[in-house]
Amino acid sequence: MRAIVLGAGGQLGSELARVLGQGSGFTHDQVSVVDPDAVDAILSSLRPALVFNCAAYNAVDRAESEKDLAFAVNAEGPSNLARACARHHIRLVHFSTNFVFDGTLDRPYVESDEPAPLSVYGASKLAGEQRVLDAQPAALVIRTSALFGDKGSAIKGGSFPDRILSRAGGGEPLRVVADQKVNPTYVGELAPVALELGESGLEGLVHIVAAGCAGWDELARAVLAEFHIATGVEGVSSAELGAPAPRPPNGCLASARVAPMGPWREGLHDWAVRRAAATRP
Ligand SMILES: NC(=O)c1ccc[n+]([C@@H]2O[C@H](COP(=O)([O-])OP(=O)(O)OC[C@H]3O[C@@H](n4cnc5c(N)ncnc54)[C@H](OP(=O)(O)O)[C@@H]3O)[C@@H](O)[C@H]2O)c1
Repeated sequence: MRAIVLGAGGQLGSELARVLGQGSGFTHDQVSVVDPDAVDAILSSLRPALVFNCAAYNAVDRAESEKDLAFAVNAEGPSNLARACARHHIRLVHFSTNFVFDGTLDRPYVESDEPAPLSVYGASKLAGEQRVLDAQPAALVIRTSALFGDKGSAIKGGSFPDRILSRAGGGEPLRVVADQKVNPTYVGELAPVALELGESGLEGLVHIVAAGCAGWDELARAVLAEFHIATGVEGVSSAELGAPAPRPPNGCLASARVAPMGPWREGLHDWAVRRAAATRP
């Protein structure tokens, strides 16, 4: 099945494009999802059966003061794309986030739980999901959490594990937030699952994350352990860090619709093995 990826310069998009093979990925420079003519042109010329939309405005804190940009990329863009896909009879697979929830439940969130975003980013992503499914009810919207990949998110200054490794060089213990739980999900494991579900014809909203839940401090300790780095990690509260955007304390997802992926710790190990191989002289 011919598939293409938009937003192919990012963490997830670059991995999906790698799996799909040469010529499948289109970066922001090549096609902007907020430009309806560019979207229509690529769909008309390539006529794929499936489109993966990995384009997003992911700067969670900056979105608080850049609301228009966040909504343009995360809601208008997916809406353009879904309407164009519907016109061309192409199936869309779109990605969303655990940040659509407020994180007050004491169990992982499933697809039927009520979203209540705390941040502009979360609200813009929720609007994107709704607009995609309004325009193309047969589309698949995959909510995921705490992605990390071989290629980091440019807007976040690299992937979380890479940023931890680069901060670890200073000798001081790292201060990492401990009261926000997520499912750390390696894009190397998510991409093949997304591809399989995209091809399967599954419709609507689905949660796809690595199994298990961890605080960011726990993830940071696991990253350092993978590389046998002795730097300590001090867990701090969200209040102490004072980030501009509120985040869900419980950002953990589970699915009532599909089988779980492997444990997050295994995904992290696979990431570390690939990273070590790529950086070996
Ligand atoms: N990262 C996470 O922890 C996380 C967690 C849950 C869900 N998600 C969701 O998973 C998906 C993939 O995230 P990711 O981590 O791979 O993001 P990412 O690394 O930040 O990549 C996003 C890509 O979108 C591109 N982009 C921005 N505006 C665009 C536009 N108008 N048209 C086309 N491309 C545009 C960016 O290009 P430029 O950099 O050149 O602008 C970037 O390459 C997103 O839907 C995100 O909301 C991510």
